[in-house]
Amino acid sequence: MHSNNNFELYEQLEDLDGIPSIRNVPQKQTRKKTAIKKRPSSNQVDEIFELAEKENELNFSYGASKHELEWLIASLQDFYRQQWFDDILRLIKGGGKEASVYQCLGNQSTKTQYLAAKVYRPRKFRQLRNDSLYREGRIALDDEGHEIRDDRAMHAIQQRTAFGMRLLHTSWIEHEFQTMSMLHKAGAALPEPYVSGNNAILMAYIGWDDLPAPTLNTVNLTVREAKQVLDDVLHNVEIMLENQRVHGDLSAYNILYFEGEIFLIDFPQAIDPRVNRSAYAIFRRDIARLCEYFQVQGLHCKPQPLADSIWRNHGYDITPNVHPSLLEPEVIDD
Ligand SMILES: Nc1ncnc2c1ncn2[C@@H]1O[C@H](COP(=O)(O)OP(=O)(O)OP(=O)(O)O)[C@@H](O)[C@H]1O
Ligand SMILES: [Mg+2]
Repeated sequence: MHSNNNFELYEQLEDLDGIPSIRNVPQKQTRKKTAIKKRPSSNQVDEIFELAEKENELNFSYGASKHELEWLIASLQDFYRQQWFDDILRLIKGGGKEASVYQCLGNQSTKTQYLAAKVYRPRKFRQLRNDSLYREGRIALDDEGHEIRDDRAMHAIQQRTAFGMRLLHTSWIEHEFQTMSMLHKAGAALPEPYVSGNNAILMAYIGWDDLPAPTLNTVNLTVREAKQVLDDVLHNVEIMLENQRVHGDLSAYNILYFEGEIFLIDFPQAIDPRVNRSAYAIFRRDIARLCEYFQVQGLHCKPQPLADSIWRNHGYDITPNVHPSLLEPEVIDD
């Protein structure tokens, strides 16, 4: 699904600035009446897109800038044509050089009021310094979620050619989607993933009509609440281990807190401890980051013994640590 044109377009979008975040959006937003408000027939949709291409404009309620709109159309038009959503209401988070998440309006076909669309920028994965740390033992996935076996493609990935980097970009997104689907089926608390491809993932939207759920790092809990939330988080960490997954970037920043419930998000770097030799060190870092938040909330949360006991209880061995330099937070090199 990734046409070269799309990638060229994404490449041109590296330097977008001034995209308003949710904080700049008035709480009560009246949706503009637009041609796409009533669900159009597929012919009408094609006409809308032809018009959009011509006039560079689609009347989504969210007022995207010209370049952002082009990027959104390139990333979401297949989903829109397949009638996964009827409108893009607002930007939830993003606008930088990584992923942006949008609140979309659902419809009769999807039977959900809202959806969240996570849309990726080309830089999101390209400059991860330690990507091999997470990719160890992983197969590369194509845009339909199938293993890439083609020699030319594998070679391009190894050589990190432009083509190889595009394949890797898609592979990260497909890994995120597959991990979310598998863990959701296993009963973990995360937004239900609906569909992936074409540079984006659609999933359940978590939040109120006008306001997305906050991430846990912005929430202050009473000690009693904090105990409950820590229990819930650790229960999910255990579900992940039972399903051979370590999140790999778990912290209060990647947990949504909505009316007393938690939802884990942001899974592209999740690893399989059976094939990744750094799995224990990555797991311990996840637990340490969680403990940082819960300590501030007044709990005695000791990362090392906690990580060790959960890890061993799930039948894993404690393997030698990887070099600490490999475990610095991921930074995008500009
Ligand atoms: N399903 C959802 N419902 C509501 N809000 C969401 C949803 N998924 C993500 N968000 C919001 O979008 C933000 C970014 O999502 P995510 O963490 O998956 O992407 P990211 O690439 O890591 O971005 P960042 O680097 O900003 O964390 C989250 O911090 C959260 O505020
Ligand atoms: Mg995140």
